[in-house]
Amino acid sequence: MKRIAVLTSGGDCSGMNAAIRAVVRSGLSNNLEVIGIQKGYQGLIDQQYELLTTKSVSGKLQVGGTFLQSARCLKMFEEPGRRQAVKTLQEMGAEGLVVIGGDGSHRGAYELQKRGVPVIAIPASIDNDIPFTDMSLGVDTALNNILHAVDCLKDTASSHDRTFVVETMGRDCGYLALVSGIACGAEYALIPESAYDIDEVSKHLLQRFQEGRDNSIIMVAEGAGKAQDIADQIKDRIGFETRIMVLGHYQRGGSPSSFDRLLAARFGVTAVEALLQDTSGKMLGIGCGAIIQTDLEKVIAGGRRKIDATLLKLAATLGI
Ligand code: F6P
Repeated sequence: MKRIAVLTSGGDCSGMNAAIRAVVRSGLSNNLEVIGIQKGYQGLIDQQYELLTTKSVSGKLQVGGTFLQSARCLKMFEEPGRRQAVKTLQEMGAEGLVVIGGDGSHRGAYELQKRGVPVIAIPASIDNDIPFTDMSLGVDTALNNILHAVDCLKDTASSHDRTFVVETMGRDCGYLALVSGIACGAEYALIPESAYDIDEVSKHLLQRFQEGRDNSIIMVAEGAGKAQDIADQIKDRIGFETRIMVLGHYQRGGSPSSFDRLLAARFGVTAVEALLQDTSGKMLGIGCGAIIQTDLEKVIAGGRRKIDATLLKLAATLGI
C-alpha cells in the first residue's frame, strides 16, 4: 500500500482535525502518501483533493471543525455519484479511504466498500447516535460547551428567580440533553426517548417555587421539542416568565477536549493500521475503553444508538 485518502463528512464536530492529523502522521510514519479530500463526498465527486504533509496538519490538533471542510452530499445516495467517487479514488491512486463522520457518512462509506474501495470509518457526530461505540468524536467537547453555557445561565437565573429552557442539538437523540442535564444539575431533561407531561412539569415547577426554590433549568433535546414552545406552555399554565437559550451550532465548535483529542488519535492511528493490515469495511468505536471494530453493514443495520438505560435511571434517581 502506497497511498490512502481521508475525508470528513456530515455535520462537523470538534476532534475531526485531530483525527485527520493522526491519520496523516500515522500514514507518513508508515511511508504512505495521504490525500486529503475537501468538502467530504462532494469533494470526492468534484475531484477536489490535496496531498497532505505534516505541515498541513501542524497547529490543527487544538482547532475545532475540519480544515478539509465537510458537506452533506445527496449525490452519494445515487449511482452516478457513487461511480464518480470510486473513479476519483482510482484516478488519485488511493488504495484505502478513511471516512470521518456521522451515520450518513457511514452509509456512503459502505457503498464505496461494496464497490471495491477499502474503507475504515470513524464515528464523528455530537449527537452520539451512532451505534457500536460508547462515544463518537465531538460528543465530549459538545457536552463541555453546553455545561459552560448552562453554568453561566444559572448565575443569572439565581439573580432573577428565573426559569431557563435550554435547547440542545442531537437530532432524534436525547443524549446531549440528558447527560448535560445530569452534569449541570438541571431540574428537567426532556428527551425524545422518554415521554413527558408539560402539565406535570409546570405543576412541579410551581411547587418548587412555592417551597422557595425559585430558579430552574430545563434541558430540552431538539428531538423532544422547541425551547420556545416549552416556555410558552409553562407561561400559559403557571404564568412563569421563562427565558430560553437555543444552543444550536455553538455546540459543534471549540477546541476539542482532552478526551476527544485522545479518542481522535486512537481512531486515526487504528484506521491506518487496519488498512495496512488489509482490514476494511469496518467502523471503529470505543467499548469499555478499548478501540473496537464493527462491520459497516452491521452499523448501518443497527439504526440509531440507544441511550444507556443506566443513564436514564441515574437521571431519575437524581430527580431530573
Ligand atoms: O448531526 C449533527 C447536527 O448538529 C444535529 O444535532 C443537528 O440537528 C444537525 O446536525 C444540524 O444540521 P446542519 O448543520 O446542516 O444545520
